[in-house]
Amino acid sequence: MANDDQFKKVISHAKEYGYVFQSSEIYDGLSAVYDYAQNGAELKKNIRDYWWKAMVQMNDNIVGIDSAIFMHPTIWKASGHVDAFNDPLIDNKDSKKRYRADVLIEDYCAKIETKIDKEVSKAEKRFGDTFNKAEFVSTNPRVVGYQEKIESILTRMGKSLGAEDLADVKALIEELEIADPLTGSKNWTDVKQFNLMFGTKLGASAEHAMDLYLRPETAQGIFVNFLNVQKTGRMKIPFGIAQTGKAFRNEIVARQFIFRMREFEQMEMQFFIKPGTQKEWFDYWKETRMKWHLSLGLGEENYRFHDHEKLAHYADAATDIEFKFPFGFKELEGIHSRTDFDLKQHEEFSGKKLQYFDHEDNASYTPYVLETSIGLDRMFLAIFSNALVEEELDNNTTRTVLKLPAVLAPVKAAILPLVKKDGLPDIAKQIVEDLKWDFNVDYDEKDAVGRRYRRQDANGTPFCITVDHDTLEDNTVTIRHRDTMEQKRVKIADLKDIIKAEVDVKHWLMKMK
Ligand code: GAP
Repeated sequence: MANDDQFKKVISHAKEYGYVFQSSEIYDGLSAVYDYAQNGAELKKNIRDYWWKAMVQMNDNIVGIDSAIFMHPTIWKASGHVDAFNDPLIDNKDSKKRYRADVLIEDYCAKIETKIDKEVSKAEKRFGDTFNKAEFVSTNPRVVGYQEKIESILTRMGKSLGAEDLADVKALIEELEIADPLTGSKNWTDVKQFNLMFGTKLGASAEHAMDLYLRPETAQGIFVNFLNVQKTGRMKIPFGIAQTGKAFRNEIVARQFIFRMREFEQMEMQFFIKPGTQKEWFDYWKETRMKWHLSLGLGEENYRFHDHEKLAHYADAATDIEFKFPFGFKELEGIHSRTDFDLKQHEEFSGKKLQYFDHEDNASYTPYVLETSIGLDRMFLAIFSNALVEEELDNNTTRTVLKLPAVLAPVKAAILPLVKKDGLPDIAKQIVEDLKWDFNVDYDEKDAVGRRYRRQDANGTPFCITVDHDTLEDNTVTIRHRDTMEQKRVKIADLKDIIKAEVDVKHWLMKMK
């Protein structure tokens, strides 16, 4: 299936099966704002819990907080967001459409990458089993040329943006002959900076109202609570503070469904370390976060690191974990070595000391910070789009199946009475009553059992449990596995253990070891 078609399918499946709805849909929607529906809210919660378990509860030296969205406005001055949280925008004079200049350039590079992929798959077909991808990519002159072109474009863009040389960013767009993706026009304005923070007001009367911002990241709530948590939790460096929560950005070009939203959720962790150890911890968190991703089984080939050329104003090293979305490899998570920038800034702007007294060294210092920051909605999209497949079956039919990692699936098991009579529904409902203490389960008696299986497959439910007439005799049921479609006869009393073995967080997180 072409990637565009696949992506359209993802969006319509998310709606049809109660995962994601356009916000305010009956009023024609609100651009780049989405609501999570009955299944989406469960999936999102399970992803958040999976992250929290791995980051907070499995690490003795990491604690979690939940700071407010409203924060003192000076925080955003101190953090640099008021002055530097900008995106370079460019308008097309003919179409009047607005774009992010860096995204236009990145999309241009993504097209070159598609050419590389095509060369690779052609060669794969030509050479068959003897094909060595790594060797081909590093020696084929055409592929090497494409790669060098991408590198030189991104390096130049990184340098120009870093030096605030917006004229050169425009020059690059013109040299590459990048056209408006909608109209093909190359008639561009100059590149300008645009601040992404949403402003709001706090206070009852207009005259006394205080100007506030909706937080554009959750990280600052951690920095300003650093000393409170360190002292009350008697935390010793190295230690981490984590939180999950909403963040808001007035994105210029909000598109690609829940990939780039104006209201979204982050899962962030700031790890406070001794200055000088940042390289070691950067490597540690790069590896640990990648292991977390791989534990979910979405396929190693779908992830890659992308080290930053252009560093954010607070970082001395940064990398993205990129994921292969239906529209190509894009950032899923950022890992940033933020130095002591934030704590020092907050010391200066608040006038309060934010230092750590190291008993071993008998000295105080401002800790350095290693940050891991992942968008919950982006992780949702990565998992959901990877899971949705159309399978050809032996009997020449197809089935749509949502192969969500069982640990994250909204509904773990559906309990289905074969028929709506002979006491089968009562037994099925009793199984629901027993299992719902441990799992989110569903009861479904409508339609033929084959159709119910298909419905649960498309909903991502890992197990279907069918109660039939033999159940009346021997207290056994059929358990059907979503991915293999294999069916087994098991005792009702064993159901809890069978399901637990596959959906338990421990079973999945142990893969990180
Ligand atoms: N505290 C650091 C920080 O916020 P970031 O790279 O701007 O860094 C971190 O954002 C993560 O948040 C990204 O990797 C992405 O997953 C997610 N994210 C950022 N902007 C987003 C948006 N507009 N919509 C959805 N997710 C977003």
